[in-house]
Amino acid sequence: MSIDHVFVAGAGLMGHGIAQVHAAVGKHVTLYEPDLARAVAGRDRIAGSLDRAVAKGRLAAADRDATLARLTPADSLDGAARADLVIEAVFEDEAVKAALWAALDAVAPAGAIFASNTSSISIDRLAAATSGARRPRFVGMHFFSPVPVMPLVELIRGAATDDATETAIRALSAELGKQVIVSADRPGFIVNRVLMPLLAEAMRAYEEGTGTADDIDTGAKVGLNHPMGPLELADFIGLDVCLGIMRVLHEGLGGPQFEPPQVLVDLVAGGHLGQKTGRGFHTYPR
Ligand code: 3HC
Repeated sequence: MSIDHVFVAGAGLMGHGIAQVHAAVGKHVTLYEPDLARAVAGRDRIAGSLDRAVAKGRLAAADRDATLARLTPADSLDGAARADLVIEAVFEDEAVKAALWAALDAVAPAGAIFASNTSSISIDRLAAATSGARRPRFVGMHFFSPVPVMPLVELIRGAATDDATETAIRALSAELGKQVIVSADRPGFIVNRVLMPLLAEAMRAYEEGTGTADDIDTGAKVGLNHPMGPLELADFIGLDVCLGIMRVLHEGLGGPQFEPPQVLVDLVAGGHLGQKTGRGFHTYPR
């Protein structure tokens, strides 16, 4: 099937990046937030990213303008009525996501694919919020941050997902320049199951006083050749997001490696969510 119109629900860290990469390859994108100012802020963030690419000589000004012209911020679900694909990238809260999917199911065309960018929640449980007829076209499409840079899509098939939907998501990911891996519908899928124990262990080393945040991060960057240290990466992802994913992993799989460290619980309770609030394991701007 051809995917021309994409409805992206959520204009935060992931949603605005997802909207950007689709608009950049010629899709018409509606960027939805219930509050229009947040949808417009998402579009402005995309404009800033494209401006930086133009300034670096990586993008022609005309292509930036054409990409932005294909993006429509919206505070209503009506745009989903024209969508070939709906991507949900709202906060990792199962009840919030399920309510949104149920509402979208009533608006979107019967043939539209529904893809959740959930980082850990069961695709089958989210698909259950939609009608039985929709479920063959319900799939997980997990992007990585920063979306324009990270060339991976983790595709999660639910029990009802059909082959045509997987084929369509694979073709779209290739258009976006992203490589696909397929994960079973298990807690945290593949990448976060591998990543979160590393981040949690770095946090435990920090809270035990094994090293400073800078030394723990430098250890991973210089000693392991990671692009970011684990504490810096947790701050970048969002400490609330990391905590939510660790909880899903711990509840779903057990195992002390997934248990959220106390320092993480305390930082989130104190409103220190990482880069987005200016403070996490580090303070920002650094
Ligand atoms: N948007 C668009 N482009 C960006 C960007 C952004 N937010 N951030 C960086 N870039 C681009 C830069 O423009 C630059 O492009 P250029 O080389 O063509 O000029 C390129 O990326 C490199 O950027 P910088 O030179 O500024 O900085 P770095 O070399 O330090 O790279 C990084 C930045 C790509 C973010 C790198 O540090 C990195 O790869 N970090 C790890 C990121 C990671 O692990 N992401 C996965 C997180 S897990 C996840 O998302 C799953 C979720 O479920 C939790």
